Amino acid sequence: MCGIVGYCGYRRTAQVLLEGLKRLEYRGYDSAGICIQSTAGALDVVKRTGKISNLQNAVQEGAEGACGIGHTRWATHGEVNESNAHPHNDAADEFSVVHNGIIENYLQLKQGLEAEGTVFRSTTDSEVIAHLVAKNYRDSLEQAVRDTLFLLKGTYGIAVISSREPGRIIGARNGSPLVIGVGDNEMFLASDVTAVLAYTRQAVYLNDGEMVSITDKEFTTLDLHDRIIQKQIELIDWELEQIERQGYKHFMEKEIHEQPESIYRAFQGRLNTETAAAHLGGLNMTLQELRQVERIRVIAAGTSYHAGMIGCTLLEQIARIPSYAELSSEVRYRNPVIEPNSLYIAVSQSGETADTLYALRELKRKGAKVLGMCNVVGSTIARESDGGVYLHSGPEIAVASTKAFTSQLSVFYLLSLMFARMKHCSMEDGLKFISALQEVYDQIRDILGRASDIRDIAKKYSHYRHMLFLGRGKTFPVALEGALKLKEISYIHAEGYSAAEIKHGPIALIDEHTPSVVLVPDDFLRDKVISNMKEVKARKGKIFAVAVEGDREVQDIADDVFFVPKAWEHIYPLLMVVPLQLFSYYCALELGCDVDRPRNLAKSVTVE
Ligand code: G6P
Repeated sequence: MCGIVGYCGYRRTAQVLLEGLKRLEYRGYDSAGICIQSTAGALDVVKRTGKISNLQNAVQEGAEGACGIGHTRWATHGEVNESNAHPHNDAADEFSVVHNGIIENYLQLKQGLEAEGTVFRSTTDSEVIAHLVAKNYRDSLEQAVRDTLFLLKGTYGIAVISSREPGRIIGARNGSPLVIGVGDNEMFLASDVTAVLAYTRQAVYLNDGEMVSITDKEFTTLDLHDRIIQKQIELIDWELEQIERQGYKHFMEKEIHEQPESIYRAFQGRLNTETAAAHLGGLNMTLQELRQVERIRVIAAGTSYHAGMIGCTLLEQIARIPSYAELSSEVRYRNPVIEPNSLYIAVSQSGETADTLYALRELKRKGAKVLGMCNVVGSTIARESDGGVYLHSGPEIAVASTKAFTSQLSVFYLLSLMFARMKHCSMEDGLKFISALQEVYDQIRDILGRASDIRDIAKKYSHYRHMLFLGRGKTFPVALEGALKLKEISYIHAEGYSAAEIKHGPIALIDEHTPSVVLVPDDFLRDKVISNMKEVKARKGKIFAVAVEGDREVQDIADDVFFVPKAWEHIYPLLMVVPLQLFSYYCALELGCDVDRPRNLAKSVTVE
């Protein structure tokens, strides 16, 4: 997804911008560009398709300037080529703009400008902004941008510079994140704080409808009516090395291996053995309000949706609260009825996913109480929710989500325990629940310690073009997640199904060319899954089973087995997803795929 970096200061501007853009690579992009403003004012734009390294090669060694802006583009309007890459300039090359988001009325604006003689150089929606800023300029860049914003419909995070005002960047936000990095005699602007963490830990987050004017010495935040807004500087506690690979071949591998620690962080300070309960500080709900919750609805997309599906089963089974997960993209347009005493939870690693954000806004508009479950602190969903729980997984860089998923499950365990203890759950059962949770770090360490077994299995399966992932009950969404992981990074076609459903269609696909990955926890559905495995074997389907240690029967039926440690039955989704993450990782590695940046995908999808 698109990324923005801006810089005013004493360092080499090009270097800061390129460095920042590299930090944003994980978001997914197809082209990149920068605009450096020389101290005399002239604007110099360089853009390239493909990797940042292409851009780096094209930028003049030591290019310096008073300030600059940079952008990674993930195409929405117009194909991937240099002219569509950002920054975009006005006709006289006096104004340069980078933009994240979508200008919905751009065609109308473009036609108006063309009728006045403006010639467009790209087929993007974003270029209109540059021409409009130029047209509206009267006495200051700030005024020109502000007047332009009133004409735009849609979403934007923008950064604008002009040869008429050397050394100044104007930023504005509506629906696309923008953060100011505050330094000493230098200021940064970025769509994501990771772009500036190498230089400063002080950040100021813009809200929708806010603008900022930046020079190397100061920043001024304003609303669209030119009123100054006082904003608080927040200290970012993510270490830069946390977002580097630390010796692992890929971020995905690193993030899979971090899970014992990231899960620990999700539980840290939230489990109380005195009360045998979970305590979550940021919910902004009284005990009475929590007790009144009669149903829970989770809204999410992608991997977060799968976590939500499992979370709802946990909440229903453990806390006995009717719960249901729905795709946020569907909720928004369904005109949902907000039932009384319903609690909505928006689950999103990035906290920026447009589908989930817009669904949250629609639900709030209708009076719903919405909590956020996000990883990125200060993200839009986190800020717009009525309250929430952070995952504390640390930055997740690989496009395919792994550690955020298990942290989301961890928070659902906490919520289930919290609600259960307010109702029927005894102190004794609460304590058993807590000790089951405290065992997962070692159980996952045990699984990760045997990663090479999964690598060997993946070698045998990576040449297949199709695979089925089968699970039942709580492991059905794990099968969906396993299939999603595999297709995301290895491009092997994979489908997740309830094992019970294969007889209703998918069994027609099974033959010696289509293996199945089957999840077999030792719960009360185990015997039924074993029957499904036999149905697969009867049709010459190869099976890789993930089962519970000691299950000899599964070993006899399956071609390959990976055992997870024996655990409390509700813990199996958390344990069983880890071998599937490793399986997809090693399949992708075998096939030589770009694991951390799979084609066509973006880490944070900030468009609908
Ligand atoms: C994108 C990512 C997925 C992620 C989904 C939801 O599609 O590639 O990995 O699961 O968005 O993201 P969120 O940040 O809302 O959890």
